[in-house]
Amino acid sequence: MSNENQFKLKTQFIATRGVEEYRQTIEKWVMPWDKILEIGCEWGTTSKLIFDRCMNLIATDISLECIQKARRLHPEIEFTTLDAFNIKEAMQIGDNFTKIYTDMSGLSSYRALLDVISLLNMYAAVFEPEAIIIKSGSLKQFAKKCIAWDQFQTKQDLRL
Ligand SMILES: C[S@@+](CC[C@H](N)C(=O)[O-])C[C@H]1O[C@@H](n2cnc3c(N)ncnc32)[C@H](O)[C@@H]1O
Repeated sequence: MSNENQFKLKTQFIATRGVEEYRQTIEKWVMPWDKILEIGCEWGTTSKLIFDRCMNLIATDISLECIQKARRLHPEIEFTTLDAFNIKEAMQIGDNFTKIYTDMSGLSSYRALLDVISLLNMYAAVFEPEAIIIKSGSLKQFAKKCIAWDQFQTKQDLRL
């Protein structure tokens, strides 16, 4: 059953394919005044790139081993464990995030598309960030094929 509040979300979703594209977005989307939550930081390679533009960053990963290594490599950054599907745990980490970066293993395949969409909707509803930037090739492919119908759209708008 659809919930009309779902369609009032102000969050924009930016779907990227591959880590290179994911990191390219940092220059455009990360501002020094942002407050950023990163999900799936692994050893903190992308975290460091984000941190160089915005120091207000909390970087997370489900793996304690990854977090411990990330802390050793980048002691200046705040790292903590988080299972992204545990939204209560995410809420305890912080609030008022303006941007969320997410790159979780297993979310790029077409099979994972429903999980990706529900995860994005959940974070958009709870944190109301301006944007969620996600590494998911299947979501990018799907988004490219979507056109929101508008009776006043021209053929040019529809790329026909
Ligand atoms: C491809 S790696 C991330 C690479 C990293 N973003 C970078 O740019 O270097 C994917 C990460 O997702 C993490 N992950 C998998 N499932 C997760 C979950 N449910 N919650 C949070 N992190 C998760 C894995 O532990 C892994 O470190």
